[in-house]
Amino acid sequence: SPHARAGAQGTGPVVVSHRGASAYAPENTLAAIDKAADLGFDWVENDVQRTKDGELVVLHDAGLARTTDVEELYPDRAPWNVRDFTAAEIARLDAGSWFGSRYAGARVPTLARYMERVAHNHQKLVLEIKNPQLYPGIERETLKLLSNEGWLDRAHVTGRLIVQSFSADSVRTVHDLRPDVRTAFLGTPSVAQLPQYARFADQINSDHTTLSTGYVSAVHAFHGPHGTPMKVFAWTVNDEDGARRVAGFGVDGIITNAPDVVQKAVDD
Ligand code: G3P
Ligand code: CA
Repeated sequence: SPHARAGAQGTGPVVVSHRGASAYAPENTLAAIDKAADLGFDWVENDVQRTKDGELVVLHDAGLARTTDVEELYPDRAPWNVRDFTAAEIARLDAGSWFGSRYAGARVPTLARYMERVAHNHQKLVLEIKNPQLYPGIERETLKLLSNEGWLDRAHVTGRLIVQSFSADSVRTVHDLRPDVRTAFLGTPSVAQLPQYARFADQINSDHTTLSTGYVSAVHAFHGPHGTPMKVFAWTVNDEDGARRVAGFGVDGIITNAPDVVQKAVDD
């Protein structure tokens, strides 16, 4: 049906709302995951970084300038990196106006607040540890927070959470700390490298332009650390033709700013 909910759409790839439904609401805000929920999508993706005083927050860029009014509030603090601001300073920023005036006042969420909303919305999360080289220890801290919020309880950990990173070291660290957590490596390792990745990653989440039917089949032939065939999610696909193309490769998931557009394409 055209209103099929993500996760209930039969055999097609799962549709993941990238930074929330970020085509329609400011990325990585609570408004963006609420928008995904309103559209009927349960899987969302985010990016996690750390403030100067050690708070985990949800933001894509290492810097605050693109998606907030930080330059106006703190004109003498260039280059406005997240790690140079306290959580209290970041809490004052407007993370919505850049996207549209109706989102004025949207905040950079703390990860704790964000996880509460994901739970409230009955959603599921692909959590990206972003720039881990800037934040030593962020893997352990992220897992601690997830545990405190109930996200590492058995029912959650097996079906509602995937932790991913472009850093293989970071993904391996997450796996070593909490072997029950599902993980994904962001990238496209060569087929020859896949046995190494299969030790700690359940999935390969790839730039869609690097994928092919042959590559997706090759990944599927390996078993991840939980003994199940490795999956492939493609990012970031925002149009119907692109969605049909990667669905044709046999991907297990599509990460997109426009989940409704992609769902329609894969349902047709
Ligand atoms: O989820 C994959 C995708 O988000 C990786 O790229 O830059 O959007 O974090 P980026
Ligand atoms: Ca991301």
